[in-house]
Amino acid sequence: MAIDGIELRRVLGQFATGVTVVTTRLEGVPQGMTANSFTSVSLDPPLVLFCADKRARSGMLVGAAGCFAINVLAEEQRHLSDLFAGRGSDEQRRALLDEIGQDAVTGAPVLPGALGWLDCRLERAIDAGDHVVYFGEVVAAGGGEPAAPLLYFRSSYRRLGPL
Ligand SMILES: Cc1cc2nc3c(=O)[nH]c(=O)nc-3n(C[C@H](O)[C@H](O)[C@H](O)COP(=O)(O)O)c2cc1C
Repeated sequence: MAIDGIELRRVLGQFATGVTVVTTRLEGVPQGMTANSFTSVSLDPPLVLFCADKRARSGMLVGAAGCFAINVLAEEQRHLSDLFAGRGSDEQRRALLDEIGQDAVTGAPVLPGALGWLDCRLERAIDAGDHVVYFGEVVAAGGGEPAAPLLYFRSSYRRLGPL
């Protein structure tokens, strides 16, 4: 029996995550998308991954550019999550990345104020259902802002609270 799509989404939403903006740069032009599918994969060699819907244009750009940066958002960067999740136009996203993005190694923009960032060379891209899994080899990393993370749970933004 096939799993019901609405039920699948509901159950997957029980898994709380952080929020990242994945950026890339193709022929000098920066772009990015919000993604919470980021996962660390391997320490040696240093590998991470994120999954992008096949319709996500930024995912396709990552495939063409061969690099991406993962920017782990802080609580006060929720506006960036909204902007890069489709609320902002392509032009607005590009303008912001041109204004505040910083270069590390690959040229994929790193966002100031991010809790952490990982600059990656695309290691492989794997077709997986309606998504593509992008593996990156981490070539530079930094961050460590003393700020709280932006969280996502049951389709809403959340913040850390004490246990
Ligand atoms: C918190 C949050 C997490 C998201 N995570 C992902 C993700 O992991 N993969 C994905 O394809 N889209 C994800 N999205 C949706 C994309 O950010 C959105 O569809 C975006 O506009 C796609 O990029 P594009 O405009 O370049 O096509 C997420 C949205 C939000 C708000």
